[in-house]
Amino acid sequence: MKITSVFGSGLVTAAMGAFSAVGSYAAVTAQDLKSQWNGVFTVEQAGRGEALYTDKCSVCHGAELRGTEMAPGLIDEVFSAKWNDQTLADLFGHIRRTMPQNDPGTLSGQQGADVLAFVLHKANYPAGTQELPTDIDMLKMIKFLASRKPGAEK
Ligand code: HEC
Repeated sequence: MKITSVFGSGLVTAAMGAFSAVGSYAAVTAQDLKSQWNGVFTVEQAGRGEALYTDKCSVCHGAELRGTEMAPGLIDEVFSAKWNDQTLADLFGHIRRTMPQNDPGTLSGQQGADVLAFVLHKANYPAGTQELPTDIDMLKMIKFLASRKPGAEK
């Protein structure tokens, strides 16, 4: 929103900017930010992620995602405590930047989202009807919460 006013000062624009920022923040909290408890991937997507996981991740993280001496588990409480209250954008970013650790930065956005869908599926979070997006701004809207909070939809 751009306000050109008779005041001609940046102050009015800045004030309006702050106001609309507060407004959209309120809109976000009203939806109570989705989390991985709300069905944010599909079973089909997790299936694609599984193939990728088996190929590129299981050697270190283990066939059951429980970790090996090479790498930590991805579905245990240590994992969920560590990522608690971050967003899926953080997790997705970590995977895409640093994994697979022996060949980092090689996953496409789609592969990153698919493999993350598989990790969430294996951790028993519910599947839904929409695929996990590859868009960072959309992923930022989905929190990772170690425990389901009251007020979440599901
Ligand atoms: C060569 C071994 C290796 C491979 C292959 C590998 N990882 Fe990792 N991964 C690690 C190690 C070691 C860590 C712990 C250090 C870190 O977080 O960077 C880790 C950490 C992680 C984490 C963060 C775990 C935590 O506790 O925070 C995620 C998520 C992850 N890997 C996902 C993947 C995915 C998905 C793949 C396949 C695309 C993959 N990794 C392939 C070795 C590996």
